Amino acid sequence: MKVLGIETSCDDTGIAIYDTERGLLADVLFSQIDTHIPYGGVVPELASRDHSGKLIPLVRSVFAKADLPLGDINGIAYTAGPGLGGALLVGAAFAKTLGYAWNIPTLAIHHLEGHLLSPMLEDNAPTFPFLSLVVSGGHTLMVNVEDLGKYTLLGTTIDDAAGEAFDKVAKLLSLPYPGGPALAALAKTGTPNRFSFPRPMLKKPGLDFSFSGLKTAVLTQWNHCLQTETDKADIAHAFQEAVVDTLVSKCQKAIDETQHCRLVVAGGVGANERLREKLQSLDVEVFFPCIRFCTDNGAMIAYAGAQRLSNQQDTSLAIHTYPRWPLNR
Ligand code: KG4
Ligand code: ZN
Repeated sequence: MKVLGIETSCDDTGIAIYDTERGLLADVLFSQIDTHIPYGGVVPELASRDHSGKLIPLVRSVFAKADLPLGDINGIAYTAGPGLGGALLVGAAFAKTLGYAWNIPTLAIHHLEGHLLSPMLEDNAPTFPFLSLVVSGGHTLMVNVEDLGKYTLLGTTIDDAAGEAFDKVAKLLSLPYPGGPALAALAKTGTPNRFSFPRPMLKKPGLDFSFSGLKTAVLTQWNHCLQTETDKADIAHAFQEAVVDTLVSKCQKAIDETQHCRLVVAGGVGANERLREKLQSLDVEVFFPCIRFCTDNGAMIAYAGAQRLSNQQDTSLAIHTYPRWPLNR
């Protein structure tokens, strides 16, 4: 069974074809970074327009890459939320139209389900059940994953998401958008232990996260420095250590509470090298998607759609998008 995946929830247009028998056949991605760089962040209206201009050429190119005739698939999966309202609508309307024209079912996929299943695309894929940490630009979730579609939220952020904190601190340090990867690269050059920032929420009960206080601590420290390039790198280093330590400690706590022996880490911040390295210290098997599938992509949506196609087929023409959509619906 072959499924076309369409991801347009934010600033990446991701298209892929997943085959339940042969695996991922092809994936293509158009990143809108150049469009948004002048504004220092994603401009929603520009994101929607960019998606609508790129969808048709990308769909053509993914079929060519997969060596399939156009339309030779069994279903279309699209990200229905959460995400930017306009960007989601562009992808959803496009998917519905294609599904109608090709007379095949369309499936509304939860973006975070796509992320948390993304390590399934790897050769060394986890089996259910597992604990999942989803750390993206918009979300920080600790999820108990029993099976496909059986998700219990164990913890979430009460303010900024982990990726959002990376992006905001990067902006504060005048690093270019997108901030997370730029800050992580700079952190590598920083001197360890010159600064130390708090590890938020570790002493509080529960598995929730909070990153906005950390951002304020960085701002205060930055304002007390001469603001040289060395200060910048040292602050970046200390900030990354604080976020990584917090995420790793929360994972340990969740493992203790749930007794899971498999941990899946996904979402954009899952690409962070230091986080990947430090998670290896945990006494569980840790699974990640490859770096390019940590951030938004069509492959994870195609995969989730292929898993769901047999039991969730929406052939109606109604277009549903959910800019805010809880994972454990
Ligand atoms: O999953 P994603 O592509 O989009 C959302 O669903 O939000 O995640 C993007 C987030 C951004 O905040 C970006 O700064 C962060 O992931 N990110 C990183 C790294 N690569 C991407 N954060 C820290 N270190 C990285 N290497
Ligand atoms: Zn995402």
